[in-house]
Amino acid sequence: VEEAHVTSIPWNTPDPGALKSRIPTPALLIDLEAMEHNLARMADFFRHQTSRLRPHFKTHKCPILAHKQIQAGAIGITCAKLSEAEVLVETGISSLLIANQVVDPAKIARLAQLASQCQLIVAVDDAANLRQISEITSRLGSVIEVVIEIDVGLGRSGVQPGEAALPLAQLASGLPGVHFAGLLGYEGHTVFEIDLERRRQNVESAMTGLVKTADLLRQAGLRVEIVSAGGTGTAFLTGAYPGVTEVEAGSYIFMDAKYHKLGLPFRRALTLLATVVSVPHSRRAIIDAGMKSLTTDNGLPEIVSPANLRLLRLSEEHGTLEVDPTQSPIHVGDRVELVPSHVCTTVNLHDQYIVMRGEVVEDVWPISARGKAY
Ligand SMILES: Cc1ncc(COP(=O)(O)O)c(C=O)c1O
Repeated sequence: VEEAHVTSIPWNTPDPGALKSRIPTPALLIDLEAMEHNLARMADFFRHQTSRLRPHFKTHKCPILAHKQIQAGAIGITCAKLSEAEVLVETGISSLLIANQVVDPAKIARLAQLASQCQLIVAVDDAANLRQISEITSRLGSVIEVVIEIDVGLGRSGVQPGEAALPLAQLASGLPGVHFAGLLGYEGHTVFEIDLERRRQNVESAMTGLVKTADLLRQAGLRVEIVSAGGTGTAFLTGAYPGVTEVEAGSYIFMDAKYHKLGLPFRRALTLLATVVSVPHSRRAIIDAGMKSLTTDNGLPEIVSPANLRLLRLSEEHGTLEVDPTQSPIHVGDRVELVPSHVCTTVNLHDQYIVMRGEVVEDVWPISARGKAY
Protein backbone atom coordinates (compact mmCIF):
# COMPACT_ATOMS: atom_id res chain seq x y z
CA VAL A 1 0.00 0.00 0.00
CA GLU A 2 2.80 2.39 0.92
CA GLU A 3 4.59 1.76 -2.35
CA ALA A 4 1.43 2.61 -4.30
CA HIS A 5 1.25 5.93 -2.46
CA VAL A 6 4.83 7.00 -3.22
CA THR A 7 4.48 6.43 -6.99
CA SER A 8 4.02 9.99 -8.26
CA ILE A 9 3.81 9.40 -12.02
CA PRO A 10 0.62 7.52 -12.94
CA TRP A 11 1.24 4.37 -14.98
CA ASN A 12 -0.96 5.68 -17.80
CA THR A 13 1.44 8.60 -18.41
CA PRO A 14 3.40 7.84 -21.59
CA ASP A 15 7.07 8.77 -21.89
CA PRO A 16 8.11 11.51 -24.30
CA GLY A 17 8.88 9.92 -27.65
CA ALA A 18 6.17 7.28 -27.29
CA LEU A 19 3.99 6.68 -30.35
CA LYS A 20 0.28 7.47 -30.36
CA SER A 21 -0.48 3.78 -30.84
CA ARG A 22 1.11 3.04 -27.42
CA ILE A 23 -0.81 5.60 -25.35
CA PRO A 24 -3.08 4.01 -22.70
CA THR A 25 -6.70 5.06 -23.28
CA PRO A 26 -8.95 6.90 -22.72
CA ALA A 27 -6.49 9.78 -23.13
CA LEU A 28 -6.93 13.46 -23.86
CA LEU A 29 -4.55 14.54 -26.62
CA ILE A 30 -3.39 18.02 -27.55
CA ASP A 31 -2.35 18.47 -31.17
CA LEU A 32 0.48 20.94 -30.50
CA GLU A 33 0.68 22.25 -34.02
CA ALA A 34 -3.05 23.08 -34.10
CA MET A 35 -2.93 24.60 -30.60
CA GLU A 36 0.06 26.77 -31.47
CA HIS A 37 -1.80 27.93 -34.58
CA ASN A 38 -4.79 28.94 -32.41
CA LEU A 39 -2.61 30.81 -29.90
CA ALA A 40 -0.84 32.68 -32.70
CA ARG A 41 -4.04 33.44 -34.62
CA MET A 42 -5.77 35.02 -31.61
CA ALA A 43 -2.59 36.89 -30.57
CA ASP A 44 -2.31 38.23 -34.11
CA PHE A 45 -5.86 39.63 -33.98
CA PHE A 46 -5.24 41.45 -30.70
CA ARG A 47 -1.95 42.88 -31.93
CA HIS A 48 -4.06 45.13 -34.16
CA GLN A 49 -6.68 46.14 -31.57
CA THR A 50 -6.85 48.57 -28.69
CA SER A 51 -8.56 45.85 -26.62
CA ARG A 52 -6.54 43.04 -25.06
CA LEU A 53 -7.01 39.31 -24.52
CA ARG A 54 -7.52 37.91 -21.01
CA PRO A 55 -8.28 34.26 -21.91
CA HIS A 56 -10.63 32.13 -19.83
CA PHE A 57 -8.87 29.45 -17.74
CA LYS A 58 -11.99 27.28 -17.40
CA THR A 59 -11.37 25.89 -20.91
CA HIS A 60 -8.04 24.17 -20.22
CA LYS A 61 -7.49 24.43 -16.42
CA CYS A 62 -3.76 24.00 -17.06
CA PRO A 63 -1.26 26.61 -15.76
CA ILE A 64 1.30 25.64 -18.44
CA LEU A 65 -1.20 26.77 -21.08
CA ALA A 66 -2.07 29.94 -19.15
CA HIS A 67 1.62 30.90 -19.19
CA LYS A 68 1.78 30.21 -22.93
CA GLN A 69 -1.19 32.56 -23.42
CA ILE A 70 0.56 35.29 -21.41
CA GLN A 71 3.76 34.76 -23.44
CA ALA A 72 1.61 35.21 -26.56
CA GLY A 73 0.46 38.63 -25.34
CA ALA A 74 -2.49 38.08 -22.97
CA ILE A 75 -2.67 40.70 -20.18
CA GLY A 76 -3.76 38.18 -17.55
CA ILE A 77 -6.19 35.33 -17.12
CA THR A 78 -9.95 35.13 -16.55
CA CYS A 79 -11.21 32.47 -14.12
CA ALA A 80 -14.65 31.20 -13.22
CA LYS A 81 -13.82 30.32 -9.64
CA LEU A 82 -11.67 31.37 -6.69
CA SER A 83 -10.10 27.90 -6.52
CA GLU A 84 -8.91 28.27 -10.14
CA ALA A 85 -7.38 31.64 -9.30
CA GLU A 86 -5.57 30.08 -6.34
CA VAL A 87 -3.95 27.49 -8.63
CA LEU A 88 -2.79 30.21 -11.03
CA VAL A 89 -1.38 32.55 -8.39
CA GLU A 90 0.77 29.69 -7.11
CA THR A 91 2.35 29.47 -10.57
CA GLY A 92 3.10 33.19 -10.70
CA ILE A 93 0.26 34.63 -12.82
CA SER A 94 0.04 38.24 -11.68
CA SER A 95 -3.33 39.52 -12.96
CA LEU A 96 -6.61 37.63 -12.59
CA LEU A 97 -10.26 38.37 -13.24
CA ILE A 98 -12.83 36.14 -11.56
CA ALA A 99 -15.80 36.58 -13.90
CA ASN A 100 -18.21 35.44 -11.26
CA GLN A 101 -19.66 36.43 -7.88
CA VAL A 102 -17.93 35.28 -4.68
CA VAL A 103 -20.38 35.49 -1.78
CA ASP A 104 -19.28 33.20 1.05
CA PRO A 105 -17.40 35.12 3.82
CA ALA A 106 -14.79 32.34 4.08
CA LYS A 107 -14.16 32.58 0.34
CA ILE A 108 -14.01 36.35 0.47
CA ALA A 109 -11.30 36.07 3.14
CA ARG A 110 -9.34 33.82 0.75
CA LEU A 111 -9.92 36.34 -2.04
CA ALA A 112 -8.44 39.02 0.21
CA GLN A 113 -5.36 36.84 0.79
CA LEU A 114 -4.97 36.27 -2.96
CA ALA A 115 -5.31 40.00 -3.60
CA SER A 116 -2.12 40.58 -1.61
CA GLN A 117 -0.25 38.36 -4.11
CA CYS A 118 -1.62 39.58 -7.46
CA GLN A 119 -3.94 42.04 -9.16
CA LEU A 120 -7.30 40.46 -8.41
CA ILE A 121 -10.55 41.58 -10.02
CA VAL A 122 -13.92 40.09 -9.07
CA ALA A 123 -17.44 40.53 -10.47
CA VAL A 124 -20.28 41.84 -8.30
CA ASP A 125 -23.95 42.52 -8.96
CA ASP A 126 -25.29 42.98 -5.44
CA ALA A 127 -24.83 45.77 -2.89
CA ALA A 128 -24.81 43.49 0.18
CA ASN A 129 -22.13 41.29 -1.40
CA LEU A 130 -20.09 44.39 -2.23
CA ARG A 131 -20.34 45.67 1.38
CA GLN A 132 -19.30 42.26 2.67
CA ILE A 133 -16.26 42.15 0.36
CA SER A 134 -15.32 45.66 1.51
CA GLU A 135 -15.75 44.79 5.19
CA ILE A 136 -13.62 41.63 4.99
CA THR A 137 -10.87 42.93 2.72
CA SER A 138 -10.44 46.17 4.64
CA ARG A 139 -10.29 44.22 7.92
CA LEU A 140 -7.58 42.00 6.40
CA GLY A 141 -5.75 45.01 5.00
CA SER A 142 -6.00 44.27 1.28
CA VAL A 143 -7.76 45.80 -1.72
CA ILE A 144 -9.79 43.92 -4.33
CA GLU A 145 -10.76 45.41 -7.66
CA VAL A 146 -14.41 44.99 -8.59
CA VAL A 147 -16.24 45.05 -11.89
CA ILE A 148 -20.01 45.38 -11.97
CA GLU A 149 -21.54 42.53 -13.96
CA ILE A 150 -24.08 43.61 -16.58
CA ASP A 151 -26.56 41.17 -18.13
CA VAL A 152 -26.06 42.05 -21.81
CA GLY A 153 -28.65 39.51 -23.02
CA LEU A 154 -27.54 36.13 -21.70
CA GLY A 155 -30.17 36.19 -18.95
CA ARG A 156 -27.78 34.97 -16.25
CA SER A 157 -26.27 37.06 -13.45
CA GLY A 158 -25.71 40.81 -13.65
CA VAL A 159 -27.74 44.01 -13.43
CA GLN A 160 -29.48 45.41 -16.50
CA PRO A 161 -27.53 47.81 -18.74
CA GLY A 162 -27.97 51.52 -17.95
CA GLU A 163 -28.91 53.27 -14.69
CA ALA A 164 -29.00 50.10 -12.55
CA ALA A 165 -25.19 49.92 -12.48
CA LEU A 166 -24.74 53.46 -11.17
CA PRO A 167 -25.61 53.00 -7.45
CA LEU A 168 -23.43 49.86 -7.31
CA ALA A 169 -20.50 51.57 -9.02
CA GLN A 170 -20.83 54.61 -6.74
CA LEU A 171 -20.98 52.36 -3.70
CA ALA A 172 -17.87 50.47 -4.88
CA SER A 173 -15.92 53.66 -5.42
CA GLY A 174 -16.75 54.93 -1.91
CA LEU A 175 -16.06 51.79 0.13
CA PRO A 176 -12.70 50.86 1.73
CA GLY A 177 -10.97 47.63 0.67
CA VAL A 178 -12.38 47.72 -2.85
CA HIS A 179 -11.42 49.60 -5.98
CA PHE A 180 -14.09 50.18 -8.63
CA ALA A 181 -12.46 49.03 -11.89
CA GLY A 182 -15.26 48.81 -14.47
CA LEU A 183 -17.79 46.47 -16.09
CA LEU A 184 -18.13 42.85 -17.14
CA GLY A 185 -20.74 41.72 -19.66
CA TYR A 186 -20.62 38.30 -21.34
CA GLU A 187 -22.74 37.92 -24.51
CA GLY A 188 -22.98 34.14 -24.13
CA HIS A 189 -26.44 34.11 -25.75
CA THR A 190 -24.87 34.67 -29.17
CA VAL A 191 -21.38 33.12 -29.12
CA PHE A 192 -22.67 30.01 -30.97
CA GLU A 193 -24.89 31.85 -33.48
CA ILE A 194 -24.05 30.24 -36.83
CA ASP A 195 -25.27 33.15 -38.96
CA LEU A 196 -22.42 35.67 -38.94
CA GLU A 197 -24.66 38.66 -39.71
CA ARG A 198 -27.05 37.79 -36.89
CA ARG A 199 -24.07 37.23 -34.55
CA ARG A 200 -22.71 40.63 -35.56
CA GLN A 201 -26.06 42.32 -34.85
CA ASN A 202 -26.42 40.58 -31.48
CA VAL A 203 -22.88 41.61 -30.47
CA GLU A 204 -23.63 45.16 -31.62
CA SER A 205 -26.71 45.47 -29.42
CA ALA A 206 -25.08 43.72 -26.43
CA MET A 207 -21.93 45.85 -26.60
CA THR A 208 -23.89 49.06 -27.22
CA GLY A 209 -25.65 48.48 -23.90
CA LEU A 210 -22.40 47.67 -22.12
CA VAL A 211 -20.36 50.58 -23.50
CA LYS A 212 -23.24 53.04 -22.97
CA THR A 213 -23.38 51.92 -19.35
CA ALA A 214 -19.65 52.63 -19.05
CA ASP A 215 -20.21 56.11 -20.55
CA LEU A 216 -23.05 56.78 -18.15
CA LEU A 217 -20.78 55.99 -15.19
CA ARG A 218 -18.06 58.24 -16.62
CA GLN A 219 -20.57 61.06 -16.94
CA ALA A 220 -21.29 60.56 -13.24
CA GLY A 221 -17.59 61.14 -12.55
CA LEU A 222 -16.43 57.54 -12.16
CA ARG A 223 -13.31 56.08 -13.77
CA VAL A 224 -14.10 52.99 -15.85
CA GLU A 225 -10.84 51.25 -16.71
CA ILE A 226 -12.12 47.78 -17.61
CA VAL A 227 -14.92 46.84 -20.00
CA SER A 228 -14.65 43.06 -20.32
CA ALA A 229 -16.74 40.81 -22.61
CA GLY A 230 -16.49 38.21 -25.36
CA GLY A 231 -16.27 34.51 -26.07
CA THR A 232 -14.63 32.52 -28.85
CA GLY A 233 -17.52 32.93 -31.28
CA THR A 234 -17.61 36.70 -30.81
CA ALA A 235 -13.96 37.57 -30.01
CA PHE A 236 -13.24 39.20 -33.39
CA LEU A 237 -16.44 41.29 -33.19
CA THR A 238 -16.39 42.17 -29.49
CA GLY A 239 -12.62 42.71 -29.48
CA ALA A 240 -13.00 45.31 -32.22
CA TYR A 241 -15.99 47.06 -30.63
CA PRO A 242 -14.97 50.60 -29.54
CA GLY A 243 -14.97 50.86 -25.75
CA VAL A 244 -14.38 47.16 -24.99
CA THR A 245 -11.00 46.92 -23.24
CA GLU A 246 -10.56 43.16 -22.79
CA VAL A 247 -11.91 39.86 -24.11
CA GLU A 248 -12.54 36.68 -22.06
CA ALA A 249 -12.50 34.04 -24.82
CA GLY A 250 -11.39 30.57 -23.80
CA SER A 251 -12.37 27.78 -26.19
CA TYR A 252 -10.34 29.16 -29.13
CA ILE A 253 -7.23 27.40 -27.78
CA PHE A 254 -8.71 23.93 -28.44
CA MET A 255 -12.03 24.49 -30.24
CA ASP A 256 -14.64 21.71 -30.15
CA ALA A 257 -17.29 20.15 -32.36
CA LYS A 258 -19.85 22.86 -31.49
CA TYR A 259 -17.58 25.84 -32.15
CA HIS A 260 -16.13 24.15 -35.26
CA LYS A 261 -19.51 24.65 -37.02
CA LEU A 262 -18.99 28.45 -36.99
CA GLY A 263 -16.11 28.33 -39.49
CA LEU A 264 -13.77 30.38 -37.28
CA PRO A 265 -10.06 30.43 -38.23
CA PHE A 266 -9.12 28.12 -35.33
CA ARG A 267 -8.28 24.42 -35.57
CA ARG A 268 -9.55 21.55 -33.48
CA ALA A 269 -6.60 20.87 -31.18
CA LEU A 270 -8.06 18.52 -28.58
CA THR A 271 -9.14 14.93 -29.12
CA LEU A 272 -10.03 11.96 -26.98
CA LEU A 273 -8.24 8.77 -27.91
CA ALA A 274 -10.20 5.58 -27.17
CA THR A 275 -9.83 1.86 -27.86
CA VAL A 276 -12.37 -0.59 -29.29
CA VAL A 277 -13.01 -3.13 -26.53
CA SER A 278 -15.80 -5.13 -28.14
CA VAL A 279 -17.23 -5.80 -31.61
CA PRO A 280 -20.45 -7.66 -30.81
CA HIS A 281 -21.46 -7.86 -34.50
CA SER A 282 -20.48 -6.36 -37.86
CA ARG A 283 -22.50 -3.14 -37.38
CA ARG A 284 -21.55 -2.40 -33.79
CA ALA A 285 -18.36 -1.49 -31.91
CA ILE A 286 -17.86 -0.46 -28.28
CA ILE A 287 -15.09 1.88 -27.09
CA ASP A 288 -13.62 2.32 -23.60
CA ALA A 289 -14.78 5.96 -23.32
CA GLY A 290 -18.17 6.98 -22.00
CA MET A 291 -19.59 9.83 -19.96
CA LYS A 292 -16.68 9.64 -17.52
CA SER A 293 -14.30 10.65 -20.34
CA LEU A 294 -16.52 12.78 -22.60
CA THR A 295 -19.40 15.16 -21.97
CA THR A 296 -22.68 15.52 -23.89
CA ASP A 297 -24.03 18.88 -22.65
CA ASN A 298 -23.37 20.24 -26.19
CA GLY A 299 -24.44 17.05 -27.96
CA LEU A 300 -22.45 13.95 -28.84
CA PRO A 301 -18.72 14.17 -29.59
CA GLU A 302 -17.64 13.65 -33.22
CA ILE A 303 -15.50 10.78 -34.46
CA VAL A 304 -12.56 12.01 -36.54
CA SER A 305 -11.03 8.61 -37.23
CA PRO A 306 -11.67 6.05 -38.52
CA ALA A 307 -14.27 7.42 -40.93
CA ASN A 308 -16.68 4.50 -41.09
CA LEU A 309 -17.97 4.95 -37.52
CA ARG A 310 -20.82 6.91 -35.95
CA LEU A 311 -21.22 7.49 -32.23
CA LEU A 312 -24.72 6.44 -31.15
CA ARG A 313 -24.58 6.99 -27.37
CA LEU A 314 -22.42 7.13 -24.29
CA SER A 315 -23.01 5.27 -21.08
CA GLU A 316 -20.70 5.61 -18.07
CA GLU A 317 -17.65 3.78 -19.39
CA HIS A 318 -18.82 2.68 -22.84
CA GLY A 319 -19.27 4.45 -26.14
CA THR A 320 -21.58 2.63 -28.57
CA LEU A 321 -20.66 3.02 -32.22
CA GLU A 322 -22.44 2.16 -35.44
CA VAL A 323 -20.07 0.61 -37.99
CA ASP A 324 -20.54 0.91 -41.75
CA PRO A 325 -19.78 -2.70 -42.78
CA THR A 326 -19.18 -1.76 -46.42
CA GLN A 327 -15.97 0.04 -45.34
CA SER A 328 -12.87 -1.56 -43.79
CA PRO A 329 -13.79 -3.81 -40.84
CA ILE A 330 -13.21 -2.78 -37.22
CA HIS A 331 -11.44 -4.98 -34.66
CA VAL A 332 -11.04 -5.16 -30.91
CA GLY A 333 -7.96 -3.12 -30.06
CA ASP A 334 -8.42 -0.56 -32.87
CA ARG A 335 -8.04 3.08 -31.88
CA VAL A 336 -10.82 5.67 -32.28
CA GLU A 337 -10.24 9.43 -32.03
CA LEU A 338 -13.06 11.81 -31.13
CA VAL A 339 -13.44 15.59 -30.94
CA PRO A 340 -15.29 16.67 -27.78
CA SER A 341 -18.56 18.54 -28.30
CA HIS A 342 -17.67 20.86 -25.40
CA VAL A 343 -14.00 21.14 -24.42
CA CYS A 344 -14.51 23.04 -21.15
CA THR A 345 -16.61 20.34 -19.49
CA THR A 346 -14.60 17.47 -21.05
CA VAL A 347 -11.26 18.74 -19.76
CA ASN A 348 -12.64 18.77 -16.21
CA LEU A 349 -12.94 14.95 -16.36
CA HIS A 350 -9.21 14.37 -16.93
CA ASP A 351 -5.97 14.58 -14.97
CA GLN A 352 -3.54 15.19 -17.80
CA TYR A 353 -3.01 16.22 -21.40
CA ILE A 354 -0.88 14.02 -23.63
CA VAL A 355 0.87 16.61 -25.77
CA MET A 356 1.40 15.34 -29.32
CA ARG A 357 3.66 16.55 -32.09
CA GLY A 358 2.18 14.56 -34.97
CA GLU A 359 2.12 10.90 -33.94
CA VAL A 360 4.72 11.29 -31.17
CA VAL A 361 4.26 12.22 -27.51
CA GLU A 362 6.21 15.39 -26.77
CA ASP A 363 5.13 16.01 -23.18
CA VAL A 364 2.44 15.44 -20.55
CA TRP A 365 0.82 18.44 -18.82
CA PRO A 366 -1.25 18.17 -15.64
CA ILE A 367 -4.77 19.61 -15.63
CA SER A 368 -4.04 21.07 -12.21
CA ALA A 369 -7.34 22.90 -11.74
CA ARG A 370 -9.46 19.95 -12.74
CA GLY A 371 -12.38 19.78 -10.28
CA LYS A 372 -11.70 23.30 -8.95
CA ALA A 373 -15.30 24.43 -8.89
CA TYR A 374 -15.30 26.18 -5.50
C1 LIG B 1 -18.13 34.74 -18.18
C2 LIG B 1 -17.62 34.07 -19.40
N1 LIG B 1 -16.75 34.73 -20.18
C3 LIG B 1 -16.27 34.19 -21.30
C4 LIG B 1 -16.63 32.92 -21.70
C5 LIG B 1 -16.07 32.50 -23.03
O1 LIG B 1 -15.80 31.28 -23.29
P1 LIG B 1 -15.66 30.62 -24.72
O2 LIG B 1 -14.52 31.26 -25.41
O3 LIG B 1 -15.36 29.24 -24.30
O4 LIG B 1 -16.93 30.78 -25.44
C6 LIG B 1 -17.53 32.19 -20.92
C7 LIG B 1 -17.97 30.84 -21.31
O5 LIG B 1 -18.86 30.23 -20.78
C8 LIG B 1 -18.03 32.77 -19.73
O6 LIG B 1 -18.91 32.13 -18.94
